[in-house]
Amino acid sequence: MKIRYYLAAVVAAVGLLSSASAMAGDELDGKALYESNCSACHGVDGRVSEGGKQLEPFPARNLRAVAPFVERDELRRIITYGIKGTAMEPKKYVLDPLQIEAVIDYIQSFDYQPDLANGKKRFEAVCSKCHGVDGRAQTGVGAKNLVYSKLNLEGIIHTMRYGRPGTLMTSKRHQLSNTDIADIAHYVYSLRYKADPLHGQKLYSKNCKSCHSTPADIKILGNAAVKRTIADLDDRLLDLRIRHGRHIDRAGESVAKLSSDDIQDIIAYMREDTH
Ligand code: HEC
Ligand code: HEC
Ligand code: HEC
Repeated sequence: MKIRYYLAAVVAAVGLLSSASAMAGDELDGKALYESNCSACHGVDGRVSEGGKQLEPFPARNLRAVAPFVERDELRRIITYGIKGTAMEPKKYVLDPLQIEAVIDYIQSFDYQPDLANGKKRFEAVCSKCHGVDGRAQTGVGAKNLVYSKLNLEGIIHTMRYGRPGTLMTSKRHQLSNTDIADIAHYVYSLRYKADPLHGQKLYSKNCKSCHSTPADIKILGNAAVKRTIADLDDRLLDLRIRHGRHIDRAGESVAKLSSDDIQDIIAYMREDTH
């Protein structure tokens, strides 16, 4: 036992010495720091080495497909403190804070070309049972409509990586590879509905103007003490207020026949006009 401890101490000391001497030359060269501290597992090009693929309980992950789409804070936290229970050990003992920033600069400079066809295929296999094949989530389980989502690419990836605690949207980090996550996120982003305010203006003139001469005239119903305007409501709430509640009795048919895309167009126009 004692000999083992002794050996471990020698190995650790040699390791520290060699990384200290490597540091003297490279200091803040992110590429060199990456190659000496990360590439053994993550691969020289970020695509995971053969050894990295064999790691237990989880293999190393493709940094090309994740580093450009994840916030710097998150990368800093992972690299500094590691990921408990995996081979991703804290690096704060071998790299100083500036060196960690240099490594982040380097891995964020990796480029990744998404494969939308793979994204579509994987989306249909993994996500569509809740979000629908078209992403509009008419499935009755409370999944969000991804076509009208306001999340940017980073936000979509963050949601896939960590899920939404307490909902059916669980973390997909260990179910999907980083390339799949990136491809799916780009595909989801490509489904986004692009509202057309000009079409919205036409629809408004035809269906709303008779009662509300301009969007600015619309009073938001509710507590008289809290004055609210259209700007206080997000698109989803505004859509609900147009389609449901007391409004449906008042506006009747002019609202009922509009599709949800039409309402998105009208909302886009209303927001422009009241700005
Ligand atoms: C001994 C192998 C090993 C080394 C060396 C290593 N990593 Fe890791 N790394 C891993 C493993 C394994 C994971 C995945 C852990 C998991 O699935 O939660 C990981 C995960 C990560 C993640 C999160 C990726 C994701 O998709 O969530 C980042 C970022 C990362 N490593 C960066 C680095 C950087 C930068 C270095 C060098 C400073 C480094 N790693 C060195 C094994 C390693
Ligand atoms: C088991 C059902 C289920 C599966 C499978 C599922 N989701 Fe979700 N997803 C949900 C639910 C429920 C929510 C709403 C969570 C909330 O209320 O915040 C959600 C929310 C989201 C959001 C947030 C949208 C926003 O605008 O806030 C994104 C993005 C998302 N899911 C993407 C995906 C992707 C991509 C996949 C496939 C990899 C997937 N989901 C698989 C149920 C699911
Ligand atoms: C037949 C008349 C009529 C038509 C047509 C009409 N509305 Fe209204 N709308 C009302 C009345 C009445 C209210 C109640 C508030 C008020 O008096 O201003 C209202 C309220 C609203 C509200 C606030 C709802 C709330 O819950 O706070 C919105 C938003 C709105 N209308 C949008 C629209 C849009 C968009 C259209 C066209 C698609 C439209 N309305 C067509 C009569 C109408």
